[in-house]
Amino acid sequence: MDTISNRDFLKAGDWRKFAGAQTDQQKGVDHPPTQKPYPKGAMLIDLVSPKEFTIGNVPLIDAINNRSSRRSYLDKPLSLEELSFLLWSTQGIKRTTDNGVTSFRTVPSAGSRHPVETYLLIKNVTSLSPGLYRYLPDEHKLLPIRSEPSLPTKLAQACCGQTFVATAAVTFIWTAIPYRTEWRYAIFSHKIIALDAGHICQNLYLTVEAIKAGTCAIGAYLQDEVDSIIGVDGKDEFTVYIAPVGKIR
Ligand SMILES: Cc1cc2nc3c(=O)[nH]c(=O)nc-3n(C[C@H](O)[C@H](O)[C@H](O)COP(=O)(O)O)c2cc1C
Repeated sequence: MDTISNRDFLKAGDWRKFAGAQTDQQKGVDHPPTQKPYPKGAMLIDLVSPKEFTIGNVPLIDAINNRSSRRSYLDKPLSLEELSFLLWSTQGIKRTTDNGVTSFRTVPSAGSRHPVETYLLIKNVTSLSPGLYRYLPDEHKLLPIRSEPSLPTKLAQACCGQTFVATAAVTFIWTAIPYRTEWRYAIFSHKIIALDAGHICQNLYLTVEAIKAGTCAIGAYLQDEVDSIIGVDGKDEFTVYIAPVGKIR
C-alpha cells in the first residue's frame, strides 16, 4: 500500500451498495455486546456519579479557546471525581434503549455502535493504586487489570519514546473492537470508527480544561507494543488512540 492509494481509507464507501451488503445485522446475527465482557465476580471500583459532580462548570467558550496540546504535567494527583468526570465526558452513558442494545453517550458514534473501549494507565489518582484499568461505561465503574511499576515507562517507549507520556497522572488508551461497527456497516466501518475516536479525544481535550489539567493526542505509537502492554489481541481489538492527562500550571 503506498501513500496515495491509502487515501482511499478516508473516502466514503459506496453507500448505494449498502442495502445489499449482507451485513451480519442484515443476516440476523445477534448484535455484539456494547461493552467488552469482564470476569464474573471481578472486584470493581466505584466512580463518582455524574449526578454528584461538583466540577466542570467552565464556560464552553473558555474551554474551546484555551484548548491546546499540553505535554508538560505537574507531579500532582487527579482526584477520583476528576477522573470520573473525564471518563463520563468521553464515554459516559446517558441512556440506553429499552432492550439495552443501544447506548447513547456523551459522544456521538456512527449508528450508536460505540466500538471503542477505554483503558487507563493510572499513575497518580487519589485513592487508586497505580496500574492498568478498564472503564466499564455500563456500570460507570473501573475494572482493575494489572499493576506493574514499569508500565508508564514501557508505554512512553511504545509511544515512540515520547517521554512526557510517562509523566502523566493517567493515560487514556482507546481501543477499537471493529466488529461492533462491522456487524452493521461491514466494509463501510473503518473510516467511521476512526471518526468516532476523534470525537472522544476532543471531549477529553475540552473537559481537561475544566479541571486545570491538560492532554495531548498521541497518534505516533508502536501498534504491537501498546497492544501487548494493555493485553489485547491486535486483531479483534487494537489500540487506535492514546491521550496522557496531567495537571498543569
Ligand atoms: C490524530 C492526532 C495525532 C497526534 N499525535 C501526536 C503525537 O503522537 N505526539 C504529539 O506530541 N502530539 C500529537 N498530536 C498533537 C498535535 O501535534 C497538535 O494537535 C498540533 O501540534 C496542534 O497543536 P494544538 O493541539 O495545541 O492546537 C496529535 C494530534 C492529533 C489530532
